[in-house]
Amino acid sequence: MKNRQDDDYVKENQFEPLQPAANFAKTAQVNDDSLYREAKKDRLAFWAKMADNLTWNNKWERILDDDNPPYYKWFTNGKLNVSENFLDIHIKNGLGDKKALIFEGEKGDSLALTYKQLLEEVCKFSNVLTKLGIKKGDTITIWMPMIPEAIIAMLGCTRIGAIHSVVFGGFSPEALKDRILDSKSKLVVTADGANRRGKVIPMRSAADQVLDQCPGVEKVVIVNRTGTSYNSKSGRDLSWSELMADADHNFEPVTMDAEDPLFILYSSGTTGKPKGILHTTGGYLVGVKTTFRYVFDHREDDLYWCTADIGWITGHSYIVYGPLSNGSSTFIYEGTPDYPGRDRFWELIEKYQVTVFYTAPTAIRSFMRWGDQYVDMRDLSSLRLLGSVGEPINPEAWLWYHEHIGKGKCPIVDTWWQTETGMIMITPLPGVTPLKPGSASWAFPGIEVDVFDDNGNPTEAGQRGFLVIKSPWPAMLRTLHGDPERFENTYWQQYPGFYFTGDGAWKDQDGYLWIMGRVDDVLNVSGHRIGTMEVESALVEHPSAAEAAVIGKVHEIKGHAITAFVTLKEGYEGSEELVQELKSHVGKKIGAIARPEEIFFTYELPKTRSGKIMRRLLRDIAEQRDLGDVTTLMDPQVVASIKEGYTEK
Ligand code: WT7
Repeated sequence: MKNRQDDDYVKENQFEPLQPAANFAKTAQVNDDSLYREAKKDRLAFWAKMADNLTWNNKWERILDDDNPPYYKWFTNGKLNVSENFLDIHIKNGLGDKKALIFEGEKGDSLALTYKQLLEEVCKFSNVLTKLGIKKGDTITIWMPMIPEAIIAMLGCTRIGAIHSVVFGGFSPEALKDRILDSKSKLVVTADGANRRGKVIPMRSAADQVLDQCPGVEKVVIVNRTGTSYNSKSGRDLSWSELMADADHNFEPVTMDAEDPLFILYSSGTTGKPKGILHTTGGYLVGVKTTFRYVFDHREDDLYWCTADIGWITGHSYIVYGPLSNGSSTFIYEGTPDYPGRDRFWELIEKYQVTVFYTAPTAIRSFMRWGDQYVDMRDLSSLRLLGSVGEPINPEAWLWYHEHIGKGKCPIVDTWWQTETGMIMITPLPGVTPLKPGSASWAFPGIEVDVFDDNGNPTEAGQRGFLVIKSPWPAMLRTLHGDPERFENTYWQQYPGFYFTGDGAWKDQDGYLWIMGRVDDVLNVSGHRIGTMEVESALVEHPSAAEAAVIGKVHEIKGHAITAFVTLKEGYEGSEELVQELKSHVGKKIGAIARPEEIFFTYELPKTRSGKIMRRLLRDIAEQRDLGDVTTLMDPQVVASIKEGYTEK
């Protein structure tokens, strides 16, 4: 498969843009350029108008406070409650009996909650939290499988004004511990176990050791999902179902300021320590509500399915906050696409009549590889719109998705955004944008982006540069939890006054943006962000490793595969057992997604004179390319010996 990041390939294969079908455009939320024009004329007035689609207890005074960049504030002194906007208001507007959340478990069990029922569950959990001493401004950690309780827990927090920090269920207990400690969580919500490909993965008992190392955690609430036993710590560990059974189903929403924190979500950066990305209430909600409505072309009768996990920003913004703020029906599935069969996703689309489907390129490439027969087994005619997110989508995967899943009739929205942006930033609008397979097209109305060269000048068409966001947007991150300096340095230092995305990109002659992926030491493995330094820190914590360098090798399905070069301490010798041991060590430290695919032992690592590991060079070695410029190397000999060691394997 040709590499999508190869811009020459794209330039040579200029596809005719695909025009929106007339029947789709006719009823679409947006079918002309009026929204773009309106936003261009007065960006802030546009966002103020979008903010009017929410219910505020107190109207804001200023749309954007940009007095103290990069600490921007939106809708200052506006007051609202998130869960009230999602639940009470919809019920008042007659959507009480509409399904809000539809769930299917791996074993085929299912559950549907109407807006009224979801409100009751959320209120009950708000009462539980309150009874356990959680107040507005406290942080709680949610480490759960993809089950409805995860969403109820998130919304329960928003009703009382507590801040949630959801940690991906696939992260290891060690990674969970770091995040609990950093966020100073007082309470953890988890499950006894998770169903995964027919097996049960223990969660609560796995977390046993690390919970004891988190003295700030006063209570642990445990959902009984799999019936897995664990040693309950009396006074601290409590059962979700018992607490909920006793809880009242009414709870007055707590009024929040637009700038009160809504959640922290940890994401990988270029150091070993994950960044606690902080989002606030009003602007975030305006951003995700608006983008969900227009990008996914919200319709009353849609059943929308985003396959992300709740532990990532996609799960936050486009499983929970975007769909529910619009009164949509959001579908969640507990399991993986290949269990019990490789037609599982298509079976679910057929069974529930899913109309809008949002997934990641890595998944699409797997489906492609498995073969069309699994898709052809099922009736996918309910689908009307498809989405892609998480990494650049290669045109082949785009075309396959369009033809085999969308049957040639569903537009595809390739949406570019980040944990930091909170909301979709670059995307087609399905009723108007002519689609070019592999390009996320251009910025959403009210969003200003460009591609800059090293000197901060906009690049010419066809010239590579760095993707920047030129002006503040409502759902932007406000800071990094506990580390404002890192916030300023990471995003605002490169081009003062502009937000630096960390992505490379180029514009074509029609103004379409082509995203090339990360330009920093961050990998994209199956659409998940993993810092090379994070994996390196985990490796060197193992007693055998003296030094480690981690790179992403281009991988056909995953985007990047993690490859590690490790130098061993005196007395250790490289062996297959040690490779396995180091791999599981990383799995234990971070989680299975960060396990290196390959580990190579080397006597030394190539470094620049200033001591920086030359990852580019290691990448070239791993991908067996010709070596580029090596003159800044401290010891060019090292390269030769590494290369030998590598090719020997
Ligand atoms: C990074 C952000 C946003 C939700 C999932 C990932 C890459 C994301 C696209 C896309 C090309 C994309 C970028 C970005 N990315 N979507 N449509 N086309 N690249 O969130 O973990 O914060 O990662 O994912 O490199 O910077 P994240």
